[in-house]
Amino acid sequence: MPSQEIRDRVNVRLDELYRRHLSLHDEEVAGYYGSGSGYHKPEVLGEDQKRFSICLATTDGEVFVAGDHDHPFALQSISKMFVYGMALEACGRERVLARVGVEPSGDAFNSIVFDERHNRPFNPMVNAGALATTDLVGDRDATEPALGRILDALRRYTGNEDLEVDEGVFEAEMRTADRNRATGYLMRSEGMLEGNVEATLALYLRQCSVLVSCRELALMASTLANGGVNPTTGERALGSRHVRDVLSVMHTCGMYDFAGEWAYRVGIPAKSGVSGGVLAVVPGKLGIGVFSPGLDAYGNSVRGTAVCEEISERLGLHVFADTREDALLGPSQ
Ligand code: DON
Repeated sequence: MPSQEIRDRVNVRLDELYRRHLSLHDEEVAGYYGSGSGYHKPEVLGEDQKRFSICLATTDGEVFVAGDHDHPFALQSISKMFVYGMALEACGRERVLARVGVEPSGDAFNSIVFDERHNRPFNPMVNAGALATTDLVGDRDATEPALGRILDALRRYTGNEDLEVDEGVFEAEMRTADRNRATGYLMRSEGMLEGNVEATLALYLRQCSVLVSCRELALMASTLANGGVNPTTGERALGSRHVRDVLSVMHTCGMYDFAGEWAYRVGIPAKSGVSGGVLAVVPGKLGIGVFSPGLDAYGNSVRGTAVCEEISERLGLHVFADTREDALLGPSQ
């Protein structure tokens, strides 16, 4: 357990990081996402577009927060990595690999380009791959029991027993799901989906519509950093043998067609969603959650990317960083 002095130091640095990034980046934003309204750039920013939070959760159960850390937002694509973990637990690695690859696609998240050599989506972090993993964890023609299992898993990751789907978000997503629906039917015609496409689509959009806070995002990340056990509750959310697989796919595919540049610049496994959440995992150490709805052209949070890059750089967290690059603990301090 860190001493109060170390906690205070982390809080001061986090607050400084938060304040500085709050005043930067607005002009880099390409758009904001609204369920039902898609991407747009509003003339005047509303309160919800201005929200910003950075949270850190360590593997020994310490949580540090800055900004709007309790504000709920939809998980959106961040849900994909948790459902991928569930598919691995339910079906095993080989069966999952037969249905969805682990290859970065280099395409946008809603691409309808498939790995034709293996007749499967490229990876579980693009929408087509998420439809495949949702199909694997779903029930034939009935969404409710599978949704209960997904919520149970997400509750174990966050430690929040009350985690729920926002029905308003879900209905708006469902009304504007033409591309995902088309992707689902295309996949079924190619033998990539087995179940009822409408049920799989609804289950996918319900998991996207689960509300979490930035603090909970950091806790989810810290659960993965801690080998699948939530450090604050001690509950296991994912079998340790699957944590490595989920982190590997996040590392290579989690930030869409920016994944290569993220791996190069930030160097820690991460996953983003169009609501503006970014979750990043430093195995054995730390979970990071950032929430800021302004998105770049790839659909990643602009502040999420900038903050993770700075934390990684300052703490020497890049997976290929030399141990002497740790700016807090290394000799440069
Ligand atoms: O269109 C969808 O599938 C979204 N509701 C979720 C997509 C998402 O978060 C992708 N993100 N960057």
